[in-house]
Amino acid sequence: MNDLREEEIKLDMGTIEAVMSLPPAPVFLLAVGKEDPNITTIGMFNVFSVDPTVVGVGIKASRHSYKLLEETGDFTLNVPSKDMVEAVARCGFISGSRMNKFSEVGLTPEPGKRVRSPSVAECLLNMEVKITEVQDRGGWDHIWIIGNVVHTDIVKDFDRSNALIYWDGEFRTPSPVLKHL
Ligand SMILES: Cc1cc2nc3c(=O)[nH]c(=O)nc-3n(C[C@H](O)[C@H](O)[C@H](O)COP(=O)(O)O)c2cc1C
Repeated sequence: MNDLREEEIKLDMGTIEAVMSLPPAPVFLLAVGKEDPNITTIGMFNVFSVDPTVVGVGIKASRHSYKLLEETGDFTLNVPSKDMVEAVARCGFISGSRMNKFSEVGLTPEPGKRVRSPSVAECLLNMEVKITEVQDRGGWDHIWIIGNVVHTDIVKDFDRSNALIYWDGEFRTPSPVLKHL
């Protein structure tokens, strides 16, 4: 274990830098709200249970979407395709507090089937989520909004290699499969 060549020596780079060095993960358009729905870009996502299907998103209290999540009690998580990268980036930089982001970025709200929030028609996969838990741990920088997935819609020819992934300022698509299990 002590024969690492010089270029392979590991460094203690700090916790934040280490976390930001992780590989990318799915990025979503979260849509929320009944009367004036909003969309925002979300990278902080986790699957908490597969069966039943429970997912969560980390969101800062300062976001307009956070206020709408509290008011509405549900949301949709929408998987954008690689062709939507510009809209996804834009939804992550502008706030819906003073504008309608759907029309601003040219996306279409589609009525939710089992939730009050709309889904995003252009996305490959839509998950409708009813909020069951809000985890606000005070010192943490994101509040975790957790809920049950109550309905999904997916394009017939879904191919996850066309979905966007993101981390630390970089949008990508998943690379080719190395091995099938
Ligand atoms: C790729 C990307 C991922 C993001 N992920 C998150 C996230 O997980 N949680 C969060 O609170 N903000 C995240 N943001 C920032 C929000 O999308 C951004 O602040 C947005 O303008 C908030 O909009 P709103 O005020 O209309 O809710 C992300 C931004 C980008 C570009």
